[in-house]
This record gives sequence, structure tokens and C-alpha cells, in this order.
Amino acid sequence: MISLLCLALFFLTFANNAYTADSRVKIFGTLGDNVTLPCRLDRDTSFSFGGMGTTRIKWTKLEGPSKNVDVLVSMGFHKIKYGQYETRVHLQETDENDATLIINNLQVEDYGIYQCEVINGMDENIIEVEIRMNGVVFPYSPRLGRYNLNFHDAEAACLNQEAVVASFEQLYLSWKGGLDWCNAGWLSDGTVQYPITKPREPCGGKGQGAGLRSYGRQDKSKSRYDVFCFTNGYNGNVFFVDQKMTYPEAVQACQNEGAELAKVGHMFAAWKLKGFDRCDAGWMSDGSVRYPISRPRMKCSPVEAAVRMVGFPDRKHKLYGAYCFKPQQ
Ligand SMILES: *[C@@H]1O[C@H](CO)[C@@H](O)[C@H](O)[C@H]1NC(C)=O
Repeated sequence: MISLLCLALFFLTFANNAYTADSRVKIFGTLGDNVTLPCRLDRDTSFSFGGMGTTRIKWTKLEGPSKNVDVLVSMGFHKIKYGQYETRVHLQETDENDATLIINNLQVEDYGIYQCEVINGMDENIIEVEIRMNGVVFPYSPRLGRYNLNFHDAEAACLNQEAVVASFEQLYLSWKGGLDWCNAGWLSDGTVQYPITKPREPCGGKGQGAGLRSYGRQDKSKSRYDVFCFTNGYNGNVFFVDQKMTYPEAVQACQNEGAELAKVGHMFAAWKLKGFDRCDAGWMSDGSVRYPISRPRMKCSPVEAAVRMVGFPDRKHKLYGAYCFKPQQ
């Protein structure tokens, strides 16, 4: 009986917990965009006394476990805006229950998790809204192996994967989002860098903090590295064909579906932006074999969500499934 009660309490607590990651609204924004962070007070008007009280609204940015940054506070006509947000935020205020925040001209430091608290009398709503980069950065090295691309090869390599060379800001945001990669790659400004979230000896030393490690500007013709590519999505559909095939058979299998083998950019966009998850290795158009894991689990990718890479297996003899891309008509 007691355990049943505990169970009931557990579920009640869970249902009421507005802070769980799943309930968080996600907004995808590009630098320079005006982004809208929705929030409102859902009032049961039959119980309110003609909307008498003043609605109080507070927006904060959650920078860490106990570090909140004030963004905007509003009580009726009184509004205070803070710091970097002072000239760039306002409330939408379509009606008295609307607490929606608009941020103009999105900056790198604006990305992250925001909390909206809106209160009027007995009515209250607390929600979280996350602003995410509208796209995904992925490291790329071709079949030839590590550190084979000069800057011009790097541009072509990203284009071949339906992507472009990533900017410094895009790599920086991905690093903040947890990207850790121990091979250096070109960025669009001609510098060569790599993102480290877990400092360790072979990746620039344990002593250094987490961050972007930079080799600075490099000779665009003579220096050879990997590259960081960026894609902000695709117009179509990525799907898996579940058969054991060689690479040429995989090409054919996609064609039979009116599609083509997916590019690496398609795979990363499907994984990051659409939560694509499939624990089966499949051919990609560049001859690599990969699989996307959004929900880490034993045997697939136990500790982290990632696009896993098997390698560049022998195209004529090794057998895998196929990841296909079908453009929207
Ligand atoms: C953002 O809003 C401002 C002010 O309303 C406007 O001037 C600007 O053109 C908007 N920018 C974009 C990218 O929509």
C-alpha cells in the first residue's frame, strides 16, 4: 500500500515538474535573427475576478546550476531590461496573459536556456525555452585519411557533403553544446582549430582548460588538415534500407526508391535536427559507413548521442545497409 502511494507521488511529482528537459521548448535561430520565445499564462477565466491583478513576468537565462542572468522583468507598465539584452529584447504582449519574449539580432552569447516565470494572483506558469543553433557542425575527413585537405579541398569536401565550411562562431557554439573532437580542421576564416570539452593529454594537454584549441591562420594551399563543415538542414527525407549490400548494390537500392545514397551532411542534419536514430550501420555516398544514435544505449553508443563511424570499408566486399536521401519534389 505504501509503495503504491510512493509510486503515485512519484508520478505526480514528475507530471508537475516543469524543469524536465523534454518539456523544454526548442527554438532554432541563426545569428542576426529575431527570435520569439513563447510563454503565456493559461488562466481559467471562470475563477479570476475580471483580471484584476497585475501580471508579473520574469525572464532569466540559465547559465549554470546556480548562475542565472536577468534578462527582463515586467510589472504592468514597469519594465527593466538587463545588460547585453537592454536594447534587443521586448515583450510581444498580444494580450494580458502573453509573456512571449522577442530577442532581436541574435548574438553568439544569446544561445542557451531561458526561463520564463509569469504570475498573476493564484495563476502561475514557469517554463524553459532553449535557443539552439539552426544547424549542425560536423568534422570531416575523406577516404584518404586524416590531414589530407588544404583549404580549397576542404571547401570542396564540405560542398560534396551538402554543407559549407563552418565559421568560428558555429564551431564555438557546437563546442558549448558539447562537441569534442581531437583532430584539427579548417574553418571558413582560414584558421585551423579543434573543440575540446574533456581536456586530455593527446588533445592539447590536460593542463589546459576546455575550449577551442587553435593553430591560428594556416597556408591555404600548403597546409593540410581535416575540416569542420556546417549544414542547416535539407529539404527531403533520409531513410535506411535494411539489407546486406556492397556499395554498388546500396547505390542501386536507393535508386530503386527514387533516391540517392545520403551525403554526410544529410546524416548529421537528420540526427541533430530531427532526432534520427538507427542502430544499423549503412553506406553513405562518400563510401563511409555510419549510423545515427540520438538515444544512447548499450551496443549502439552507450554514453553519448552521436553519428558513429565504422570507417571506409572495402566497397566491393563488405556488406551493410544503405542510408538514402530523397529530395522533396
Ligand atoms: C528584426 O527586427 C528589427 C526591428 O523590428 C527589424 O528592423 C529587422 O529587419 C528584423 N531582422 C530580421 C532578420 O528579421
